Amino acid sequence: MSTAIAIDGPSGAGKSTLARMTAKKFGFIYVDTGALYRTVGLFTLRRGVGTRDAQGVAALLPEIHIEMRYDGAGVQRMVLNGEDVTDLIRTPEVSMAASDVSAIPAVRAFLLDTQRDMAKKYDVIMDGRDIGTVVLPEARIKIFLTASAAERARRRYRELREKGMDVEYEQVLRDIELRDKNDSGRDIAPLRPAEDAVMLDTTEHDLEASFELICDLIGERLKNGL
Ligand code: DC
Repeated sequence: MSTAIAIDGPSGAGKSTLARMTAKKFGFIYVDTGALYRTVGLFTLRRGVGTRDAQGVAALLPEIHIEMRYDGAGVQRMVLNGEDVTDLIRTPEVSMAASDVSAIPAVRAFLLDTQRDMAKKYDVIMDGRDIGTVVLPEARIKIFLTASAAERARRRYRELREKGMDVEYEQVLRDIELRDKNDSGRDIAPLRPAEDAVMLDTTEHDLEASFELICDLIGERLKNGL
């Protein structure tokens, strides 16, 4: 039987970086589920359909084929109808589109099997918003990672600037707050910690310190067979 570790939390809490580092250390496959919603968001934008138009988006789903591949370095590549869109889904516009389409029940149902299949086949560290609550309620370890909105915006701002994107801090903060509201306020699979999740607030911890905390937690639980 494969082992699953779920890491949930709001945008910019450091989930993907920490999950990637942790997966490498423990020999798990890192599955970034936000990339699936981003890919549906990108397709919707390209087709000119409103990202909040539940019926319009649901009608597009039969045309969408998404594959998750892993390159030689273990990096997850997103392939949309045969096209590698890994880099194209990282813009602020696609972030917001992903948050919108992720509130549509048909989209969540469409992506559920892909996520569960990965966890059946491999030992995974999967990050997202509803992994511990909906996708993998039986996950062996659940972590809910968070940080203040201001700190998350600072991190996201630095990341986008480093990629050469011309963004303003205030705008990044507004986007984060809006996505928090969207992701926590929706009716279906809202962002919330599972009852058995370990809460980890990284506002005061840098990456190294957060990584150490997570590794200690996972190492301890795996050792004790919990
Ligand atoms: O983790 P991310 O920022 O790449 O995710 C993009 C959006 O996708 C996010 O705003 C909410 C949605 N999402 C979700 O609803 N459920 C998940 N498991 C992962 C992401």
